[in-house]
Amino acid sequence: MASDKSRVMVTCTAPVNIAVIKYWGKRDEELILPLNSSLSVTLHQDQLKTTTTATISKDFTEDRVWLNGVEVDVRQPRLQSCLREIHRLARKRRSTEDKDAPGLSLSHKVHVASENNFPTAAGLASSAAGYACLAYTLARVYGVEAELSEVARRGSGSACRSLYGGFVEWNMGERADGKDSIAQQVAPESHWPELRVIILVVSAEKKLTGSTAGMQTSVETSTLLQYRAASVVPARMAEMIRCIRERDFPGFGQLTMKDSNQFHATCLDTFPPISYLTDTSRRIMHLVHDFNTHHGQTKVAYTFDAGPNAVVFTLEDTVAEFVAAVKHCFPPESNGDKFLRGLPMKSVPLSDELKATLGLDPTPGSIQYIIVTKVGPGPQILDDPLCHLLGPDGLPKPAA
Ligand code: DP6
Repeated sequence: MASDKSRVMVTCTAPVNIAVIKYWGKRDEELILPLNSSLSVTLHQDQLKTTTTATISKDFTEDRVWLNGVEVDVRQPRLQSCLREIHRLARKRRSTEDKDAPGLSLSHKVHVASENNFPTAAGLASSAAGYACLAYTLARVYGVEAELSEVARRGSGSACRSLYGGFVEWNMGERADGKDSIAQQVAPESHWPELRVIILVVSAEKKLTGSTAGMQTSVETSTLLQYRAASVVPARMAEMIRCIRERDFPGFGQLTMKDSNQFHATCLDTFPPISYLTDTSRRIMHLVHDFNTHHGQTKVAYTFDAGPNAVVFTLEDTVAEFVAAVKHCFPPESNGDKFLRGLPMKSVPLSDELKATLGLDPTPGSIQYIIVTKVGPGPQILDDPLCHLLGPDGLPKPAA
């Protein structure tokens, strides 16, 4: 962090998280308080991350934000809400905790630049990584050391889970002011080293119904959602935490799939119905079940968010065989060499027995590419000034 009091510049990174017990529905739209608790796995930043640089200066005349090099409207309510929250925490710190906290004026304007190394709004939780990174970076700029769930949550509910590495629970809380609606780590990233995550990118296009609007309609119209929040999720949270603590993959996998399916059932129960899954998504579900049937146990498990991409969990020793099965059912059409991304893996041939079990006719080109990754740590601060996305003038550096 630069020490000049008139110009502090900080760059941080934050991870994507994928929920295994889904958040869907708010009890308070303004404070972004959920109808039920949720639980997620933090993905490794070597493969998927947001990088954010923030700087404040007395020379800036307005707050400005750039996302992937394009300036965005800083007046949008969720950005404003995050900025307001961080200012509130900074003021609180100065008045109650530390009178000598960095003497940055809260009236100074802020410039923020943020970049994802994966497609924005493709159903890969870019807003979660983005808002977690914004909260974490602004906290460092303003010298805020408080718990940041509330700041990140104001940007996007699921973002509070990206503030921690490993396995993370977002406790719905009970209070009307949301002070107890916070994320906390259930187990660190080192807890289950064999766990792997395979992302099957079906479509990198922007989704049709955003999560915010989608869940609002579900809250208004779906009785299944009310039942799920009140009567299903509490027991599932406890069971999921047990599966993670005991590294019980079959238990973890089955519950992950059931919860994804119930979330999508809730979408169908919404009126008018919402559908995020495509034919390819459903074919992936079949493939996973066929693969598990062949092995006589749950060796792989899918989950789908508000989009058609599948996120598949498995253990290290099963990655190569499952990827071979994916390639068999969804052969790459063009970018053969870029089809497999992320962690290196060996290639294995598919056994004739497994091939015979996979009931699907191959559909070339319906999966664009695969990213192999693992569980990873929470947000990081980058010390090297070369990592800053903003130049000394506070404007985005030209793309290299
Ligand atoms: C399906 O966090 O994107 O990914 O709070 O309105 O910004 P807002 O919604 P968001 O919803 C995520 C929904 C989900 C499930 C999950 O991540 O838990």
